[in-house]
Amino acid sequence: MSQDIAFQTNIGSGPSHSYGIQDVLTACPSTGQLLDVRYDWNRVPVPSSLKEFEKRWGTRNNPLDFSGVWRFRELFPFAPPEQIVTIGEGQTILQKSEHVARYVGMNPGGLFLQYEGLNPSGSFKDNGMTAATTHARMVGARIAACASTGNTSASLAIYAGTTGLMRTVVFVGSGKIAFGKLSQALDYGALTLQIEGDFDDALKQVRDVCREAGIYLCNSVNPFRLEGQKSIMYRVLEGLGWEVPDWIVVPGGNLGNSSAFGKAFAELKELGLIDRIPRLAVINAAGANTLYELYEKKGLRWNNGSPDTALIRSFYEQMDRNNHRANTLASAIEINRPVNLEKCLRALDICDGVVRDVSDDEILDAKAQVGAGGFGCEPASAASVAGTKLLRQQGIIAPGDRVVCILTGHQLKDPKATVNYHTVAEAGQTRRAFANQPVLVPNNLESILAVIKKFR
Ligand code: F0G
Repeated sequence: MSQDIAFQTNIGSGPSHSYGIQDVLTACPSTGQLLDVRYDWNRVPVPSSLKEFEKRWGTRNNPLDFSGVWRFRELFPFAPPEQIVTIGEGQTILQKSEHVARYVGMNPGGLFLQYEGLNPSGSFKDNGMTAATTHARMVGARIAACASTGNTSASLAIYAGTTGLMRTVVFVGSGKIAFGKLSQALDYGALTLQIEGDFDDALKQVRDVCREAGIYLCNSVNPFRLEGQKSIMYRVLEGLGWEVPDWIVVPGGNLGNSSAFGKAFAELKELGLIDRIPRLAVINAAGANTLYELYEKKGLRWNNGSPDTALIRSFYEQMDRNNHRANTLASAIEINRPVNLEKCLRALDICDGVVRDVSDDEILDAKAQVGAGGFGCEPASAASVAGTKLLRQQGIIAPGDRVVCILTGHQLKDPKATVNYHTVAEAGQTRRAFANQPVLVPNNLESILAVIKKFR
């Protein structure tokens, strides 16, 4: 694993610019475009079939084989093994859910939940942060930073904190961050800056600060993060016995996941490790639906690497003129200026993708149904289930398809959202469709038994 088999290059159809793996860049200095990590596959010892990765199940005492990310390291060979930062991320599970299948209108056996809340910091972000902090270590970074709606900051703080390799500065917007997430950054010792503004403001600030102060940036503009996030798809395939599903459905915020998934499938196909690519559905919250507006309403496409950037610019200008701010209860995806927009367009192109937006009510009902089926997730994650239900209603997903919804974050990240849903805490709100209200009961045996009797 050395720099000559891996390099960084700008995306898009214009002139290609290449940079070394030790360069600390989050955009191409020549074109301003996002960067990809690329490999000279002819010189990488890639297994001849995905099944070969199974042999690592028997060598789990090696931390790199134990990691649900690094056990696939031949598929993102940018790091020398001795530099890899791992804390056992990616022990996540793919679960068939008959309850959720019924809710969204799929045939039995066709709906799977990829439960990324089981990661060390409770969200999918650890898949990417193990890779980003590895690169940070490779380049000798002393301070790492990110802007976050809460999960990225929790993840960065845990990776930097547990490894003691670097200090962490996190930028969060004011007000909206869920307490579970804020508490993590504080506990793990990150310098936590609450910017007077929202996530979009915080991200702009952190990019400027990192450039000015030579701080290592760990947002998903960092191409190494996306390399780690590809492993979510490898584990989905592993969970399906290496069979490719019909659909991957994922919430869309800053669009790092969807971008990483598209790249993963394009590479697997190029390497002959899969014979077809699943379709991708990216689900926005209706209150933060830039991708939906641009892709589905205005017809923005990847266009062989030349997306209509004037259209994107004018969309953002209009947004600024109207002082239009993202607004959703799914605070993790409350983002109006997704930094990976162009990479996501590429992923949608690779995966014959669709984009939908769903209301907060649809998200919260779907979340309650995920919960009632025995899994917990935070609101943003449930956008994938709400989106699947919508795509079933629209006849785009067929009842007999095999669908994998990515549950991106743990239920305990945002307990307030859950308790509010079930208790109708907010004045004037009507009872939610699947509310499971706590029952107030007098402190005596008879009354308690009477309540339980009714329940049976
Ligand atoms: N789901 C959860 C739970 C998230 O935390 C995020 C993003 C997303 C979905 C969206 O993923 O950005 O890859 O499209 N959270 C970021 C953060 C922005 O700061 O924690 P994406």
